[in-house]
Amino acid sequence: MGKDVCHIKIVPEDRVIKVAKGSNLLSGLQDAGIHIASSCGGQGTCGKCKVVIKSGEYNAGITPFLSKTEVSEGYALACLTLVEGDLTLSIPPSSKVLGEGIISGGEKRLIDERWAIGPWDVKPRTKSFCLSLSPPSLDDNRSDLERIGSALSSQGCNSYHIHCPLYLLKNLARQVRDGEWKVTVTIIPACDGIEIIDIQPGKACLQHYGVAIDVGTTTVVCYLVDLNDGRIIASEADYNAQISCGEDIISRIIFGRSQKGLERLHNLVISTINRLILQLLKGAQIKPDRLFSFMVVGNTTMIHLLLGLDPRYIRESPYIPTFSSIPHYIKASEIGIHANKNAYLSGLPSIASYVGSDITAGFLAAGIYRLSEMSVFIDIGTNGEIVVGNKDWLVAASCSAGPAFEGGEVKFGMRASTGAIDSVRIDPQSFEPVYSTVHKQSARGICGSGILDCLAEMFLAGLINRRGKINRELYHPRIREGTDGWEYVIVWEKDTAIGKDICLTEVDIDNIIRAKGAVFAAMKVLLKEIGFTVDQVDLFLIAGGFGHCLNIENAITIGLLPDLPFERFRYLGNSAIIGAYMALISEDLRQEISEVAKGVTYIELSTSASFMDEYVSALFLPHTDQSLFPNVGSKTSLNRKGA
Ligand code: FES
Repeated sequence: MGKDVCHIKIVPEDRVIKVAKGSNLLSGLQDAGIHIASSCGGQGTCGKCKVVIKSGEYNAGITPFLSKTEVSEGYALACLTLVEGDLTLSIPPSSKVLGEGIISGGEKRLIDERWAIGPWDVKPRTKSFCLSLSPPSLDDNRSDLERIGSALSSQGCNSYHIHCPLYLLKNLARQVRDGEWKVTVTIIPACDGIEIIDIQPGKACLQHYGVAIDVGTTTVVCYLVDLNDGRIIASEADYNAQISCGEDIISRIIFGRSQKGLERLHNLVISTINRLILQLLKGAQIKPDRLFSFMVVGNTTMIHLLLGLDPRYIRESPYIPTFSSIPHYIKASEIGIHANKNAYLSGLPSIASYVGSDITAGFLAAGIYRLSEMSVFIDIGTNGEIVVGNKDWLVAASCSAGPAFEGGEVKFGMRASTGAIDSVRIDPQSFEPVYSTVHKQSARGICGSGILDCLAEMFLAGLINRRGKINRELYHPRIREGTDGWEYVIVWEKDTAIGKDICLTEVDIDNIIRAKGAVFAAMKVLLKEIGFTVDQVDLFLIAGGFGHCLNIENAITIGLLPDLPFERFRYLGNSAIIGAYMALISEDLRQEISEVAKGVTYIELSTSASFMDEYVSALFLPHTDQSLFPNVGSKTSLNRKGA
């Protein structure tokens, strides 16, 4: 009888994992915490989950993503492979999801400059009080808890009704006496008074911390914050471990419908958060039970999965979520976050199913609801979310841009992590590129900002025409017909870390043009719906998915952003985490933005008759209507060589 458990040895790391015989290789790796690229969530349609099986018994499905040579060398797609016996395998660099080196955006700049937001008071939801209690006597026989209530009242705290969990009450008598009638009490407001969430003997007021969390579909970012003074102690970011179940929201929702899929997605994101928190606490030498408050933002699907809720109805018309803001009474420990047992979660409201609390946090950080200027806040990622308005009114819309700006649907596309090409220049005479990579490592692929640069530079150099078709008459070694059609070689194999030429193909270009077309069309239609034109916008605030750099000039060149003076643009980076941080340290700001969010009008573009017309018009470089991009026209006439 054959054995039921198989051992998989991963080389060169020499790590051995166990999986059940007959199980899916991708799931087995995921279960062991080994995350490899799998954009389609194991559907067999992205070709990203390649492994090289050196020896052993397995049953690999047929796939067009592997050449005959690759199959003969042992390459297989993990999601299409069943484990039949012990295996030895390696994970090629192109399939690795590197946790380190995720680049964050301009959020640091946003904090430093505080350009659109004024100074704010530190007034978090939870508060610690160091109390000196008057010792009891025969003349003062109030209970220990009453004594705490009086001391809190004398510090201006409404303690008319005090709620105190039984397990804290059990230790109260000992703690007040151990602290010689000095005690630190941490409270949170309740609807009819306060709830005590922690009691420590002595003066422990300085140990009062919280965490702001942005749960992105791709990355999770955490800020550890001192809630006494609002100081950011440290920040950490990592890939959302759910990435191995699909790279976009829709593939996650589909994955959630598989057996135990929902549970797995929930556990993966919680494990990511706990890992980040652990790193933050370790670095700052803080114990988990000193964390009292969490502010979490993210798109609506991510927040549902964080709480373990089924997000399937977000995908089905009329696109209704279970809730629009994390209910105030949920404790972090209830969903598995390692913190003080009584620490509470908070969130910001979403505006619609596809305009989540990350966007609400973004415009809190950008402060457009306080500005007189007519402003556009745009978050560009797999979805393009747009908020337009000023202090008097706000409207919002979203569109599906596809994953191209985040490296998806691009042959050598990757996240902005180590080895990603993040900027490209092409000499218009020699067609030779100059590029940079994240952390200056050998190139492994190309991320959003590099993709956008490469497209703009190819256009300006005359390597592609206005439809994104490569000029076949240029006869240059970097321009050739490859297995996926015509392509431009950015990096030759010998200079890469993946042993292959890194190219941008015509198919990639087509995907990028469709993505930029959707975002530009959405912005134009939204403005039109409210009676404005693009040139009436005073301020463009850009957030989201381009790693640490977005070349605004190149974004205009390809027609992603309108052709307006540069001084009207600001790149914010990850504004969601800044908004989460602000709402964590200021309950006033949280309430203010929650009220503002209620007043935002959402416009459904999928029912707008003009969206499709605008979209089709935007499928050119930079646009069908060249008069919208006069500066791009003058640059191309200077540079082009006969495309
Ligand atoms: Fe395997 Fe997409 S092809 S995860």
